[in-house]
Amino acid sequence: MIQNVLIVGCGTMGSAIGVCAAAAGNKVVYYDNGSDFPQNIKNRTNGLLDELLSYDLIPASDLDAIKARLESCADLCAAVSHADLIIEAIYENLEAKQKLFTELDAFADPSIPILSNTSGLRITDISSQMRYPERALAAHFWLPAHLIPLVEIVIGDRSSPELAERIKEILMGWGKTPVIVKKDLPGQLANRILQAVIREAVNIVETGLASPEDVDKAIQIGMALRFPVWGPLEHVDAVGFDICKSVQDTVLPEISDRKQASPLFAEMMTAGHSGVKSGEGFYDWTTKDINTLVKRRNDFIVFALKQIKQSHLSADLELNKE
Ligand SMILES: NC(=O)c1ccc[n+]([C@@H]2O[C@H](COP(=O)([O-])OP(=O)(O)OC[C@H]3O[C@@H](n4cnc5c(N)ncnc54)[C@H](O)[C@@H]3O)[C@@H](O)[C@H]2O)c1
Repeated sequence: MIQNVLIVGCGTMGSAIGVCAAAAGNKVVYYDNGSDFPQNIKNRTNGLLDELLSYDLIPASDLDAIKARLESCADLCAAVSHADLIIEAIYENLEAKQKLFTELDAFADPSIPILSNTSGLRITDISSQMRYPERALAAHFWLPAHLIPLVEIVIGDRSSPELAERIKEILMGWGKTPVIVKKDLPGQLANRILQAVIREAVNIVETGLASPEDVDKAIQIGMALRFPVWGPLEHVDAVGFDICKSVQDTVLPEISDRKQASPLFAEMMTAGHSGVKSGEGFYDWTTKDINTLVKRRNDFIVFALKQIKQSHLSADLELNKE
């Protein structure tokens, strides 16, 4: 039984994953090698818990107990010794993750699962120097990890498929909705689909077919409204293969099949534009406020999840009812 969870790397993702584990009743130890740790993690977890409280996703009466289950440790070896489950969420860098997994493999009993939150690297590569690679899996939580139920569990070439099923059960106990990805390929599952959407969204702007505002609007107020209750493959079945085949034969030759990132990204970066970070991207971020947008996004996620949880879809999507 999992009771003690060690989170290694306590930035945006690690902090939120730890809060999910603690809210589900686990004791959580955070470890990070950053200079402002552990004060930084305390501020982050307090902020995340305040947000969960503001959405009524945790009862106020549980707050002190959840906080009491969150600890920090500055010694990796000591932190590992009590862990039943280790989740890594350090920078997206293969060498750094390989080095860490090799260390964790040496410190932790071979029975302890070690998961990576990598967005794009192969768990097979991350675990390549481990003595016990069967205990390594990718468990890709989606941002914002304290709100989004989806976790993609990726089985590496040497991972144990049975362990993937066990981790799925554990994460369901945390209120998550895991999917199992059976092959260890770049982009896992949902990121492959997201990148296909982004490729065509950028292509539409590049070719002058529509403005960035209208591309986003078409998705936000059109197809995205269907997705929580109407997946793309349910759509295909509903429409029928004959019609889908005919539409694909007409449309696919016209849309982007680019194998590399759009040259627009390099052009924009040369001009000093990188999106929110620089103040300019597809939108002018000196007038548009990212914090307001993040708040609206989170409000909508919580609103939609509450609706779904109250409906019959909750069982179909394996969502926990509150
Ligand atoms: N941010 C996202 O949208 C997102 C979504 C899903 C997955 N991910 C993945 O999650 C992982 C973490 O991303 P993030 O956005 O939380 O990063 P982040 O930069 O916010 O946090 C990374 C943390 O790891 C720490 N760190 C770096 N090397 C370390 C080491 N060797 N030992 C201990 N701590 C170390 C850093 O000090 C930092 O606090 C990455 O693999 C990323 O690809 C990110």
